[in-house]
Amino acid sequence: MKICCIGAGYVGGPTMAMIALKCPDITVTVVDMNAARIAAWNSGQLPIYEPGLDDVVKQARGKNLFFSTDVAGEIKQADIIFVAVNTPTKTYGVGKGRAADLTFIESVARTIAEHAESDKIIVEKSTIPVKTADTIKTILASNTKGLKFSVLSNPEFLAEGTAVRDLLNPDRVLIGGERTPEGDQAVATLAGVYARWVPRANIITTNLWSSELSKLVANAFLAQRISSINSISALCEATGADVDEVAHAIGKDSRIGPKFLKSSVGFGGSCFQKDILNLAYLCESFGLPEVAAYWTSVVSINDWQKHRFVAHIGRELFNTVADKKIAVLGFAFKKDTNDTRESAAINVCRDLLAERALVSVYDPKVPAEEIRRDVLGTGSTGSPQGAADNPRLTVAKDAYEACAGAHAIAIVTEWDEFKTLDYAKIFAGMPKPACLFDGRNIVDLAALRKIGFKASGIGKPNAHRREGDTA
Ligand SMILES: NC(=O)c1ccc[n+]([C@@H]2O[C@H](COP(=O)([O-])OP(=O)(O)OC[C@H]3O[C@@H](n4cnc5c(N)ncnc54)[C@H](O)[C@@H]3O)[C@@H](O)[C@H]2O)c1
Repeated sequence: MKICCIGAGYVGGPTMAMIALKCPDITVTVVDMNAARIAAWNSGQLPIYEPGLDDVVKQARGKNLFFSTDVAGEIKQADIIFVAVNTPTKTYGVGKGRAADLTFIESVARTIAEHAESDKIIVEKSTIPVKTADTIKTILASNTKGLKFSVLSNPEFLAEGTAVRDLLNPDRVLIGGERTPEGDQAVATLAGVYARWVPRANIITTNLWSSELSKLVANAFLAQRISSINSISALCEATGADVDEVAHAIGKDSRIGPKFLKSSVGFGGSCFQKDILNLAYLCESFGLPEVAAYWTSVVSINDWQKHRFVAHIGRELFNTVADKKIAVLGFAFKKDTNDTRESAAINVCRDLLAERALVSVYDPKVPAEEIRRDVLGTGSTGSPQGAADNPRLTVAKDAYEACAGAHAIAIVTEWDEFKTLDYAKIFAGMPKPACLFDGRNIVDLAALRKIGFKASGIGKPNAHRREGDTA
């Protein structure tokens, strides 16, 4: 059997590496139109940072796992084609800012229709609006070669940072197909691939639309828990309750459960916001504005939480951060990934720069140029990939350099190394009062206060609360 995956990103790369590892008799080729990305997958420096991924790729690459830019050639040879291209939020036209941009999906469907020379199973791995399979089927059916294509939905539930663990031992694999004999056959074929290492009981099969919708709903429910606890974090700060204690107390209720109850500066990542906005847009399209408003509020609370964090910094620094150095520790949207898409750090840096702070960022895995591009956008001069310039934004080589001479430290990503920094040494090199704002609740505030920091967390009883802090 031959598998081809179109899209060598955060999903296509790791998922296919795992299939190749677990199915040595299947040849798996990941293709992408981005030649630099493919070259990186073929090199010693993979394009994405994901714990454990290097090992998995090294074990299979060159044996039954290949990375290539020959999209047309691999389509011809494959029995199963996974589609794992990006489906970002539309930035133009109808549905701008909410609907999913399906340009890449449509283009892939047309490419498959053009180059296929035999019947194929097409698997939607990308997260897409309900009924997208219809669009794909219609485009494929317009091929004039009389070929048969079965379209399946197989959304990916891995989380960046734990992708290898999630793929090795998924809570479930979801496969949606048409309820026809051909559809059932295609579902059975794909289920057979996963069954090499996933217990059958964890392979769920549904109709196409349930599968497509379940992915959006899963992300909406996860994000909703974060916004729910983040909304309570503000109430904790106002009342003297501790949000971690509240989360622990409610999470012990087996009906609620302990996961995804960690309060923070706000969720990021390429998926949560995009998928909720997409879900809300779908609801509106189907005449359900109340349902759309309910889910949109999850994103609104997240935006509010990010701004609230920076507003708090401003108040603690005597209502002005202008010309004060602020160290931003962490830039990735969470630890153990180099992905910065929709990272809260972008908003934090932009809000601080708008107040004319001198922002010094450090992240262990995100390159300096990426940080500058994400915060400042691309410049009008120089290379199209180059970032615009703003001398107020600098990128430090380590946390100590970022914090040297800073009036305040803002921890924005929960990288483990930030838990064990020598904060006494850092404190000694900062003007006083020296402030620390823990946007992830990972450091020991009491210990920092002993050193002399004005330290505050999210949803924590703060020793230095001022009037209006919860606004
Ligand atoms: N990142 C995650 O954690 C995650 C988790 C679950 C699901 N998803 C979903 O999976 C999909 C992919 O996400 P990602 O994070 O891997 O995206 P990504 O941007 O990292 O990768 C997508 C890749 O597709 C390639 N591509 C786009 N159009 C192409 C075409 N016509 N031909 C060849 N290559 C093409 C791009 O060059 C890019 O390398 C999205 O729909 C996303 O919502 C992502």
